[in-house]
Amino acid sequence: MPKYVSGFSKLSKSDKINWIVDSYFSNNKEAKAILKQYWNTNIELQNLHDEFIENTITNYYLPLGVAPNFVINGKHYTIPMAIEESSVVAAASKAAKFWLERGGFKTEVISTTKIGQVHFIYKGDFEILKAYFEFIKPQLIADTKFITKNMEKRGGGILDIELINKTKSLDNYYQLHASFETQDAMGANFINSCLEQFAKTFEENTDNFEGFNSDEIKIIMSILSNYVPNCLVKAEVSCKVSDLNEDKNISSEEFAAKFLQAIKIAEVEPYRAVTHNKGIMNGIDAVILATGNDFRAVEAGVHAYASRQGTYSSLTHATVIDGVFRFWIEIPLALGTVGGLTNLHPLVKLSLELLGKPSAKELMQIVAVAGLAQNFAALRSLTTTGIQEGHMKMHLMNILNQFNANDQEKKTIVNHFKTNVVTHSAVVEAIEKLRQ
Ligand code: MEV
Repeated sequence: MPKYVSGFSKLSKSDKINWIVDSYFSNNKEAKAILKQYWNTNIELQNLHDEFIENTITNYYLPLGVAPNFVINGKHYTIPMAIEESSVVAAASKAAKFWLERGGFKTEVISTTKIGQVHFIYKGDFEILKAYFEFIKPQLIADTKFITKNMEKRGGGILDIELINKTKSLDNYYQLHASFETQDAMGANFINSCLEQFAKTFEENTDNFEGFNSDEIKIIMSILSNYVPNCLVKAEVSCKVSDLNEDKNISSEEFAAKFLQAIKIAEVEPYRAVTHNKGIMNGIDAVILATGNDFRAVEAGVHAYASRQGTYSSLTHATVIDGVFRFWIEIPLALGTVGGLTNLHPLVKLSLELLGKPSAKELMQIVAVAGLAQNFAALRSLTTTGIQEGHMKMHLMNILNQFNANDQEKKTIVNHFKTNVVTHSAVVEAIEKLRQ
């Protein structure tokens, strides 16, 4: 049975590994070899990765692929994507090429405001609290100058602070609700530092305001919000319905009608909307990861936005008006192209360079396009051939690798499935037959 361990974080990397393999693995030699196999031979590079988090024992690889042929507002991009799911990069590339031939993607950043809150409890008179807030507000801003100075030079900073009365939802609950512009930084550290300073100033100056008691305000916590409905980007494609389809088995009109119906279903049916949006996030998360951004923050914010009208709904929408098909996405994305991992992780730097060193605003547009392209590819397959045809073709190699197929076996079987339906059992059967 695993033992309780104390002071684990202070052990050396090799002692940590020894403890883990001795406590949890029957074949500890093999476990150790697997962990070490993923260490980088460049010691400096390995140290860099070790120091990203606490208790690193090895590296966890994801493939970094690229989807070429994206045209966004007339500019060409090859988009880096870090993801393990077989069909995602292929689907993105296919959608990019499809829209390249139909004018490309059009995008627009609608807003870039981020939010942070100081949550506190106050049991006194609201009118007095309001008066105290008005009195202290200039000082809240002034006391953060040491944090905001550099951000202000880059055109960002604190936009506003409001006092919000939340006592209808929870007894004695109030907030300092602040908005920020963080330019090319995702801004989490900047916002949280400002908020913690607001809390300090707010709590410490009550004695300087007549009628206020120093222990009347109890700060609960200060933290940014990952819900950023005012940090919004829109991406769109459009073309004549008659230009829409290249599949001979279905007419353009029928395809457009089925596609629109699929969107409408995702707009009204949460079970479908979650899967529909999951497909969008396949594209979004892959670019977020490749560019060193925080996919958990993006996921949380995007799904909250998808529920903003009270039911979980589609992030994409489509219309056909006067013979023109329009398909678009509008999503909140708080991203950074400076700070965090962006200046540290060599592959993140490389991915950003591949994208032409975009600003945060440009990256928002690229990421939104990746999501829209992914959704287009998924709906196109779902409403025509079904998803499994393309998905299983891409998954074929995983099945072959599970059976340790050699290069010749792979070649023969891939060839066989060019004209046969891929299922797990059909692949197993083909391998067994080949090996007889
Ligand atoms: C699979 O990862 C994503 C899809 O399920 C998305 C969708 O259903 O729209 C194919």
